[in-house]
Amino acid sequence: MKGKLAALEQEALEEIEKASTQDRLEQLRVQYLGRHGTLSALLKELGQVPAEERPEAGERANRLKERLGAEIKQKLISLEKGTPAVRPLRDPTLPGHTFSVGKRHPLTRITREICEIFVSLGFRVAEGPEIETEYYNFDALNIPASHPARDAFDTFYLNTPGPKKYLLRSQTSTVQIRVMEKAKPPLRIIAPGRVFRPDAVDASHSFMFHQVEGLWVDTEVAFSDLKGLLTLFFKQLFGPKTRTRFRPHFFPFTEPSTDVDISCTLCGGRGCRVCSQKGWLEVLGAGMVHPNVFRAVKVDPRRFRGLAFGLGVERIAMLKFGIDDIRLFFENDLRFLRQF
Ligand code: DAH
Repeated sequence: MKGKLAALEQEALEEIEKASTQDRLEQLRVQYLGRHGTLSALLKELGQVPAEERPEAGERANRLKERLGAEIKQKLISLEKGTPAVRPLRDPTLPGHTFSVGKRHPLTRITREICEIFVSLGFRVAEGPEIETEYYNFDALNIPASHPARDAFDTFYLNTPGPKKYLLRSQTSTVQIRVMEKAKPPLRIIAPGRVFRPDAVDASHSFMFHQVEGLWVDTEVAFSDLKGLLTLFFKQLFGPKTRTRFRPHFFPFTEPSTDVDISCTLCGGRGCRVCSQKGWLEVLGAGMVHPNVFRAVKVDPRRFRGLAFGLGVERIAMLKFGIDDIRLFFENDLRFLRQF
C-alpha cells in the first residue's frame, strides 16, 4: 500500500506539473481524486491492509488527497495568471527577509538636542498651531500694521471667508503669546516648530523651515541672564571652545534686541568659506520682552521681565553636520538621510 501511494504521488505530481490547460487539470482531478478515481480505488483496498498498518496507510492516503487537491488548485491559479507554474518551494537555508531600520530625520535630531539642553536648564517644551491669526503672529507681538513682515510678499495668507485673516505662522514667537495667555509667570518655555515664508527657494532659503523659540519670564530676569544662557547653550551644542558675540539689533517684540553670533564652527574664528572670512556666524535673534507684549497678555511689565530668543533649526543643523544646501533636508532622498 505504501509503495502504491508513493508511486501514485509521483505520477500525479508529474502530470499536474505538465498540465498546461485548465481542461487537462480537471481531467487529472477526476482521474486521481474523483469518486471512481485512482485514489478512491486505493482506499477501497485499505480493507486488505493488515489491521496494525491500516491507520497509517489511511492517514497517508488522506494526506495525499489533500496534497494533490492543493497542487491542482495552485496550478489552476498560476495558469489563470499566465505565469509559469512554480511548485511552492521552501528552502530553509535562504537568509530570510531583511528589514531596513528607520532613523530620525537630522532636523528632528537637532531639534531634540536643542530642546534637551534647555530642558536640562529648567525649560518646558511648548507648542502652538501652524495656522494662526494676524493677532498672534503680529499684533500681540507689537508688530504694527505698517510692518513689512505683514506684507503678502512675506507671509502666506489663507483664503478664508470672514473678516478674520488666517495665515501660516511666519515665526514661532506666536507661542510666546499662546503660552502667556494661559500660564502666569514665572515661566520658562522652549517651543520648536515649523514656520512659513514665501521666500524663493535656494541653497539657504526655503518657504518652510523650523525654529526653536525660547521665553523666560520672572521678576528678576536680566539681559546678563540672556547672555549667560545663550553662551552656555552654544558651548553645549558646538563644544566648549565656542564663543558668542551679541550685536545690537531690532525686533518689535523685544527691547533691547540683539543678534547673536558664534565663532565659526569650521575655522574657530580665523576666517574660512563657511563664515565668508568673517570668523563669526549669525545664528539667533534675541532680546528682552517688550512691555507691549506683556500688556497684550495682561502681564504687568512693571513687575515682570522676560528674555526671549528664536533660532533657525536648519541653520544649526547645516553647521553641525557640514551641509551646504538647505534643500537636502526636504527632498526625502534616502541616500542623504541615511548618513545621519
Ligand atoms: N521671530 C524672530 C524671527 O523669526 C526671531 C526672534 C528674534 C525671536 C528675537 C525672538 C526674539 O524671541 O526675541 O526672525
